Amino acid sequence: MTGAGGLSGRRILVHVCGGIAVVKVPELLTTLRRAGAVVRVTMSPGAQAFIAPMTLQALAGGPVATTLLEPPGAAPAALGPGHGMAHLELGAWAEVQLVVPATADMCARLALGLADEVVGATALACPAPLVVAPAMEAAMWEHPATRAHLATLADRGARVVGPVRGRLASGRDDIGRLAPVEALVLAVTDALKAAPDPGRAPDPSAPPSPLAGALVLVTAGGTREPVDPVRFLGNRSSGRMGLALAVAARRHGAEVVLVTAAPPPPPAPGLRVVEVGTAEEMLAAVRSVLPRARLVLMAAAVADWRVAAPAGEKLRRAGRDRLRLDLVPTPDILRAVVAERPPGCVVVGFAAETGELEGPARAKLRAKGVDLLVANRVVGPDSAMGGEGAGVLIVGADGVGRRVPFGPKSEVAAAILDAAARLAGPPDHG
Ligand SMILES: Cc1cc2nc3c(=O)[nH]c(=O)nc-3n(C[C@H](O)[C@H](O)[C@H](O)COP(=O)(O)O)c2cc1C
Repeated sequence: MTGAGGLSGRRILVHVCGGIAVVKVPELLTTLRRAGAVVRVTMSPGAQAFIAPMTLQALAGGPVATTLLEPPGAAPAALGPGHGMAHLELGAWAEVQLVVPATADMCARLALGLADEVVGATALACPAPLVVAPAMEAAMWEHPATRAHLATLADRGARVVGPVRGRLASGRDDIGRLAPVEALVLAVTDALKAAPDPGRAPDPSAPPSPLAGALVLVTAGGTREPVDPVRFLGNRSSGRMGLALAVAARRHGAEVVLVTAAPPPPPAPGLRVVEVGTAEEMLAAVRSVLPRARLVLMAAAVADWRVAAPAGEKLRRAGRDRLRLDLVPTPDILRAVVAERPPGCVVVGFAAETGELEGPARAKLRAKGVDLLVANRVVGPDSAMGGEGAGVLIVGADGVGRRVPFGPKSEVAAAILDAAARLAGPPDHG
């Protein structure tokens, strides 16, 4: 990761609460620490019913505050001088605080300023910017009480990230799912940017990224080609890699336009989201941004084929024993981008492979004329498509190849951005 990443050495306080989405906190802590952040954790009593403090302590790399009213001398020394007031020490220590998953209960407690357990008390004692990542069943999220508490927190300057639509613990597909880890990292990064610590000396080992201030265009998700008004041809892409790339580009200081065929991420500063459905729509959205782009990351899984003439009405099963679809090719967006890019614009293509990676990756690199080609394996134990992690091979037009081992998509995205930034050259101040 480059020194421009933005989280290196930053002090992040993660308040963990008692919701089922706590299962995402280990990945979040790992991602923050791999980005160089120093992480401390508080856990509500509810959180401790869901996950053991020992687990989070190991992943955070430091002690976890679990109680407020501890016996004298019981506070772990690493939380502070050890005078049993961890909430004050952690509150003063943090540069940013993130509540995750923010339960309906904790949102209410934070809005009211309740301080009878360690998360509420520490958040109240902490002047650092507050990021709240709610996750709960849709009925709880939509309840007027929850809405009022979130509005109170937002009025006070808290950033609310998510929830997003998706599969909930109840099995229903609805609003209430925790925002993706990449979106949480983005919100924390932006909160730190908005409120930099005035006493913080610039890191001399962090030269500005060539992408600082540049426009980076990212495509994400799987396009949907209509068959009839209710059906489409699609694919398994979740949009997570594209979102991870957008976050990584923001951490290089770039302005990002995310053209996505997946559910959009929550709004965030420096990130413009354009929602599209079909390959045609994606091409139009890409063309509208391309003339200003310095880097284009084509992570979307674009359909190769569309139905020549989608039915105007729902196709019925009755009276048919077979249905044939007449398919025609969709536009080749990657080829259009390479042909129409402005001078100096770096283009990164992506390939999903089910077999050998290197040969097809080099062949696609040459055939499409891109600067870098990122090949993902889509079957087997390190399958990338639709999953939380990826392992990729990055090949360059200069013949260089680099394998990024299987890991969280945030980490893989950071490696891809570093490789692309090296090709982008010095910042363009023209
Ligand atoms: C299995 C289970 C799952 C739960 N999941 C959630 C959830 O996702 N979001 C939420 O707001 N509350 C959820 N709750 C309710 C909270 O755990 C409960 O309100 C608790 O008091 C929250 O504690 P805390 O806010 O102090 O962490 C769940 C409860 C149970 C038993």
